[in-house]
Amino acid sequence: MSGQTALVTGVAGFIGSATARRLLDDGWRVVGVDCLTDYYDAAQKRANLATLEGRDGFAFRQDDLAITDVGGLVDGADAVIHLAGQPGVRASWGASFAPYLEMNVLVTQRLLEAARVAGVDRFVYASSSSVYGRAERYPTRETDLPAPISPYGVTKLGGEHLARLYAANFGVPTVSLRYFTVFGPGQRPDMAMHKLIRSALMGTPFPLYGDGSAVRDFTFIGDVVDANVRAATRPGVEPGTVLNIGGGSDGITMREVIDVVAREVGVAPRLERHKAMPGDPARTGADTARAREVLGWVPGTDVVEGIARQAAWQRHLLSVTA
Ligand SMILES: NC(=O)c1ccc[n+]([C@@H]2O[C@H](COP(=O)([O-])OP(=O)(O)OC[C@H]3O[C@@H](n4cnc5c(N)ncnc54)[C@H](O)[C@@H]3O)[C@@H](O)[C@H]2O)c1
Repeated sequence: MSGQTALVTGVAGFIGSATARRLLDDGWRVVGVDCLTDYYDAAQKRANLATLEGRDGFAFRQDDLAITDVGGLVDGADAVIHLAGQPGVRASWGASFAPYLEMNVLVTQRLLEAARVAGVDRFVYASSSSVYGRAERYPTRETDLPAPISPYGVTKLGGEHLARLYAANFGVPTVSLRYFTVFGPGQRPDMAMHKLIRSALMGTPFPLYGDGSAVRDFTFIGDVVDANVRAATRPGVEPGTVLNIGGGSDGITMREVIDVVAREVGVAPRLERHKAMPGDPARTGADTARAREVLGWVPGTDVVEGIARQAAWQRHLLSVTA
C-alpha cells in the first residue's frame, strides 16, 4: 500500500482514467479532476469515470482547471499527474487554437505555480511526440531539436518548457513524458486506430489521410500508465527531466496497421482516400534508452498484441451500444 495521494488531471480521459485505476490498485488515494470537455463524446468519459467512482480512495471533482482554485486541489497531493489537455493535431488550426492554448499552456502554468507553492514530491506532465515535428533523425532522441509542425505540438512544447523552467527556477520536481501515439482499450474515438477498427467492425468507410506510408510508433496504454507511475515514484529523478515514451518498435506504416486490423477483425476496412493533413508528420519514432536508464521503463506490449486487445474492447463497446 502506497498510502500517498495523487492529483490526476484529465481523469475522465483515455490515459487519465487508466492511470487512476492503476494508482488505486497500487493503494494510492486519487483526487481526479476533469471538466468533461466536448472534444469527443462525453459518454465515453462518463464510462471511464464509472470504472473509478465508488472505489475506495477515489474522489472526483468536476472542475475546469482554467478557472478553478488549483491551489486547493494541489494542496495535500504527493504527486500531480497532469494529463488534462486538448488533444489532437488536426483540430488545432484556425479558430480552435484558443482552447489548445488555454488547456495545454495556461492550465499547465496554473498547476505548476500551485505545485511550487504546495511543494509536491513529483509533477508528471503529459508531453507529446508532436513536439518533434519532422524530426532530425529516427529513432528520435530527447536531445534532438523539437520543432513542432502543428499548433497542437506548439502548445504541448509550451507546457513542457513551462515544466522545465519551474524546475530550473524553483526546483519543482517535474518529469515530462513525450508519449508516442497511445493506443489500446479506452482509446479516444477521434484517433485513427479507433476509427479504423470501428470501420472494420461496422463495414463503414475508413478515412485514410495520405497514401498510407506514414510511420507511427504506437505505444500501448498499459505501458504509458506504467511510465506515469514510475515517473511519479522513482527516487532521484532530476527535476526538469524529459523522456520519450514510445512503443519500442521501428514504427509501422498505416498500410501495415490496416493489414493487422483486417487480420484481427476478419474484414478488410473499406478505405476512403483523402489528402495528407497539415500538421501530420510523415514519421514518428522514439529512442527510449533514456526512459530505460532513468525510470527502468521498457515497453511490454507490441502493436499486434495491442491491436488485438483494442479490437476486443471495441467489439464489446459496439455490442453494448448496439
Ligand atoms: N493519446 C495520445 O496518443 C497522446 C499522445 C501524446 C500526448 N497526449 C497527451 O496526454 C494527455 C491525455 O490524453 P488523452 O488521449 O487521455 O486525452 P483525453 O481527451 O481522453 O483526456 C484529456 C481529459 O482532459 C480533460 N480536460 C481538458 N481540459 C480540461 C480543463 N481545463 N479542466 C479539466 N479537465 C480538462 C478532458 O475533458 C479530457 O477528459 C493530453 O494532455 C494529451 O495532449 C496524448
